Amino acid sequence: MANKTHIHAQWSSRLAFMMAAVGSSVGLGNVWKFPYMTGESGGGAFVLIYLVSIALIGLPILMSEWLLGRLGQKNPITTMSTIAGRLKRSQAWALVGVSGILAAYLILSFYSVIGGWALAYIKYGVTGTFGGLDGDGVGSLFGNLLASPMRLLGWHSLFMVLTIGVVAGGVSGGLERAAKLLMPALAVLLVVLVGYAATTGSFGEGLNYLFKPDFSRLTGDVWLAALGHAFFTLSLGMGIMMAYGSYLGDDVNIGRTALTVVILDTVIALGAGMAIFPVVFANHLDPAAGPGLVFQTLPLAFGNMSGGLFFGTLFFILLVFAALTSAISLLEPIVEWLEEKSPLTRVQATLVAGGATWLLGIATVLSFNGWSGIQPFGMSILDLLDYLTSKLMLPLTGLATILFVGWVMGRDEVRAQLNMSDRAFTLWRFTARYISPIGVAIVFIFGLLN
Ligand code: PHE
Ligand code: NA
Repeated sequence: MANKTHIHAQWSSRLAFMMAAVGSSVGLGNVWKFPYMTGESGGGAFVLIYLVSIALIGLPILMSEWLLGRLGQKNPITTMSTIAGRLKRSQAWALVGVSGILAAYLILSFYSVIGGWALAYIKYGVTGTFGGLDGDGVGSLFGNLLASPMRLLGWHSLFMVLTIGVVAGGVSGGLERAAKLLMPALAVLLVVLVGYAATTGSFGEGLNYLFKPDFSRLTGDVWLAALGHAFFTLSLGMGIMMAYGSYLGDDVNIGRTALTVVILDTVIALGAGMAIFPVVFANHLDPAAGPGLVFQTLPLAFGNMSGGLFFGTLFFILLVFAALTSAISLLEPIVEWLEEKSPLTRVQATLVAGGATWLLGIATVLSFNGWSGIQPFGMSILDLLDYLTSKLMLPLTGLATILFVGWVMGRDEVRAQLNMSDRAFTLWRFTARYISPIGVAIVFIFGLLN
């Protein structure tokens, strides 16, 4: 108990909480996944659905996770079962927490492999490899990396070791404090990159691609991908934000804080898109190149701008940093769960959870080379893991969360957690009860049928 109070004291400042929430949300999802999914989905229509999903589904679910966490004051599984028990409801609601831990495990396994790519690109920056590359050059640089299982494994291992080290060492707080400096630096570098993109002669084309919806591209799968990405990018549907909510002070305004996090996350993603697509078009690259898109476009930008080697190296350092703060937020709930369910100490639990994640990551490593022929359900292993998590587990868990807050909990209890005017609360509750769940359900069914 004393320990719990101690942890709570550390979170007393609103800023520390914000840094943890922003640290978890801003990561590879913004800089790597958002641009490549946009490109695979054909641009503006995906972006529009993604923005609508963020506003009408992501924001209310983020607020729901935080208010549940603040009420429950425990890990997500215990929180859900305590609150459900108090309301005399089924313990099945605790499955929300269980599904979250499994999803975190699956996501971290491939997240670490991509984090490893970013590590490799720090090395390319330091050794000057970006200088003077053309489209083919960046293509083969990336292709060679993917073709080598040993190198991918090495970088994936290094990324996992860093993540495990931070979690086992209990220094996540320090990392999050550093985020206060490094996240703004990442934002500044994105501005520099957008500035470069504006000089490529294809800036207008890039912006059109991002912001002018071509509705003929809107298939069920694009809807589901955009919805799933709203969950992924905000770290929702995994109980992570719920766990953070247990450290939220009663004085914190959940709505305003959630809006800030959502805006920051969205701005970083759109900034990455604005930096990348003009470069894609200026160099006649394929916007639908897939997961390698960022790694094949930004080095071109860095190779052609003045100070590019310096900026490029710094950029990938900051990207790794952003990825690490997200990765620790994925590893922590698995470790906490293991620590509670087994006789393991925290360090042992971290090693076991991290080791198991590292092991599963090998499947993603091999999917780019030795196992590239293995295509369950016609998908690469990376796509399959992404499908299971972002398109199935996260939306379902998120749906359960918002149904719980909207329909199971009493109006007054929710009201007491959200410090809003009557009118704003009425609007919020209507969204939480009807718009968000119906939205998720429709997209979900529509996407699965597709
Ligand atoms: N939100 C993180 C990102 O955008 C990824 C993440 C997903 C982190 C789920 C935690 C949980 O990179
Ligand atoms: Na994100």
